[in-house]
Amino acid sequence: MISSANLPSPVQVIEHPLFTKHKLTVYVKRDDLIHPVVSGNKWRKLKYNLKHAKSIGYRGALSFGGGYSNHLHALAYACQQQQLPAIGIVRGEQHYETNATLTQAKKWGMSLTFIDRKTYKLRHNETYLTNLKARYPDYFIIPEGGTNLLALKGVSELCDELNSQVEFDTIITPVGSAGTISGIIAGDKQQHNILGIAVLKQAEYLREHIDTLLESHQCNARNWQLFTNFHGGGYAKFSVEDLTKMRAFSQATQLPIEPIYSGKMILALLTLVEQGFFPSGHRIVILHTGGLQGLYGLIEQHKIKADEWLLPLAT
Ligand SMILES: Cc1ncc(COP(=O)(O)O)c(C=O)c1O
Repeated sequence: MISSANLPSPVQVIEHPLFTKHKLTVYVKRDDLIHPVVSGNKWRKLKYNLKHAKSIGYRGALSFGGGYSNHLHALAYACQQQQLPAIGIVRGEQHYETNATLTQAKKWGMSLTFIDRKTYKLRHNETYLTNLKARYPDYFIIPEGGTNLLALKGVSELCDELNSQVEFDTIITPVGSAGTISGIIAGDKQQHNILGIAVLKQAEYLREHIDTLLESHQCNARNWQLFTNFHGGGYAKFSVEDLTKMRAFSQATQLPIEPIYSGKMILALLTLVEQGFFPSGHRIVILHTGGLQGLYGLIEQHKIKADEWLLPLAT
């Protein structure tokens, strides 16, 4: 999709006193290093979506996201690379247009349409989508977060890649729209434990969503577990104490993380380790799904301070 992608993404060992104490070996699969913009799960989820859009002869691609969406940010760049016009349907008010995320999306040529939160809730509704298709007949519509069967196909490729790099027992990933965890389950062929950390509140419905995606992918694997109690107050919410713990981990390990996805996964992992969830000798892979551009939005909103996080280079 993008010729400069850094694949296979590297696997690194993470040293941390808590892991040593519990005799665990922890690795991180650095998908955040795949590409400076289309990083992490975005690269994998968009790969076949954009191939499909081009091969069918669509004129462009259209998708949905919040005002600081990692997905829209990556889609804008990837579409520019593919010479595919892109439309982003954004939840919320027009003033988001000037934030760090959407300023870049626009710079890469994405046109933005802002819709109120009530209308945004219809993004999976059949009638709403039919009307949208009628309005943009030449655009391939990609669901929010890029999650569809084409995303599963792209994410599933990380399993063979990872198996050739390291032996492990459990892989852990943050979960939003559930395309990433579903792709891992599909690609894993029941070889490992797969743990998902939901970053949204009341995310129990995602279990059924994962089942549906897997069924359509003809996969009936049951070697996965979704934790819904580590959302820390809801999507993009976190306490000062949580931020302190995330930063301490990032500083101790020199792993760049952000508080919305990777940070919540790390806090969940630390809690599970403290609770003795993993037996001694267990080998765990943390999937770094990227999203580091989101740090700039959080800085802009004064939710975090720039000098306290390992920031990616501005693009
Ligand atoms: C950085 C990052 N990590 C993880 C996720 C969660 O992935 P998924 O929506 O496929 O569950 C997202 C959202 O797509 C994300 O932007």
